[in-house]
Amino acid sequence: MLARVRELRLGVNIDHVATIRNARGGRHPDPLRAAHMAVAAGADGITAHLREDRRHISDTDMARLKAELTRPLNFEMAATEEMVAIALRHVPNACCLVPERREERTTEGGLDVIGGGVGLSEAVARLKGAGIRVSLFIEPDPDVVKASKQIGADIVEFHTGAYANLALADDVDGVASELERLGSAVRLAHECGLEVHAGHGLTYNTVAAVARMPQIVELNIGHFLIGEAIFTGLNEAVSRMRRLMSEARLEVTNKV
Ligand code: PXP
Repeated sequence: MLARVRELRLGVNIDHVATIRNARGGRHPDPLRAAHMAVAAGADGITAHLREDRRHISDTDMARLKAELTRPLNFEMAATEEMVAIALRHVPNACCLVPERREERTTEGGLDVIGGGVGLSEAVARLKGAGIRVSLFIEPDPDVVKASKQIGADIVEFHTGAYANLALADDVDGVASELERLGSAVRLAHECGLEVHAGHGLTYNTVAAVARMPQIVELNIGHFLIGEAIFTGLNEAVSRMRRLMSEARLEVTNKV
């Protein structure tokens, strides 16, 4: 049992504010303005993914986020030479290394840490050498957790997409077994001394089961919040998510 239950931070991913902006070109809506609003509404950090094809966040967005944000910036990126060079120029608080394929709509699945080879270990070492905390976006798989520890990651972020999709399909048994798989990977990562994050596809309906896992200290949530902001505003969307996370975490605290 944990001596005390840890805080649970919310990182708001603002990529899809840039997606809407880029549909027309120009500057509106501005992801930096969204980042400031998210922070005012209770976000503990801001996450942005600079994709190789620049489909949403741009290089200029990254520079502005780094220069102006008052909360930690989590820079999601592929472990490529180009992205490592950009990260070393901006020195964000953390870099989350993700697999990236041009044809995918979103990050489908976790990083191949076991087969990642020298390139991945070198990227981790160079980023860490610059004082950047390094996170690996992985599937909840014990071998991948151990490999992440071995190559020197500070953090693992578990891909919750499989859980989110099963929940969307109302697959009750699938959800139960995926949460079990996630929970045991989360505990293993924590025992290995890795900081534990999670995210992808989380909504108001699915966040609590993940937030109740006491070893997780950060959730990164984007698409649902930006979509929900269309209906209720970003402030309400972020503060409601923040509240749901805190309520779920409190349930665990009360049991310890
Ligand atoms: N964490 C990582 C590493 C991601 O790649 C993404 C999606 O960009 C998220 C969290 C957020 O996922 P979603 O936008 O589905 O909430």
